[in-house]
Amino acid sequence: MIETTNITFSPERLAEVQTLLKRYPEGKQKSAILPILHLAQKDFGWISVEVMDYVAELLDIQHIEVYEVATFYTMFHLKPVGKNVLEVCRTGPCMLVGSDNIVKYLEQKLSIQDGETTPDGLFTIKTVECLGACGYGPMMQVGEKYHEFLSEERIDQLLEGFRQNATQP
Ligand code: FES
Repeated sequence: MIETTNITFSPERLAEVQTLLKRYPEGKQKSAILPILHLAQKDFGWISVEVMDYVAELLDIQHIEVYEVATFYTMFHLKPVGKNVLEVCRTGPCMLVGSDNIVKYLEQKLSIQDGETTPDGLFTIKTVECLGACGYGPMMQVGEKYHEFLSEERIDQLLEGFRQNATQP
């Protein structure tokens, strides 16, 4: 039974959840936790405790089981984020080619620190673990797009592009 009332998927989303659950054998519904958390983040913007509790109720598993997964993977946002989440890979291969400098440059350009959001809500800087583009570092993911071989010049271009997109109707 769903105990949480403030957070609810739409009927269409619930149908999608049911389809996901059918992929797994009876009693193994916990295996659908990652795709369902992705849907939750898409719909609710970030993964609050309330969202985690809702997902646990949907899957009929312990709340702690959802907390463990949602807090382990850096792809889940555990607090509200800006319109553009600049997810910079901080794992070894990217670090060897200067990802820490990219993070510092972003922090300086946006006057925020890793994990923070600009006051206009346009950007969040978030360092994350390997995104599987290790040969193309330093790299970052923004939305569904990868940006690779980053340099200060490339960051300037990207930020300008994101700002322009934000002003378009
Ligand atoms: S180490 Fe950065 S993408 Fe793998």
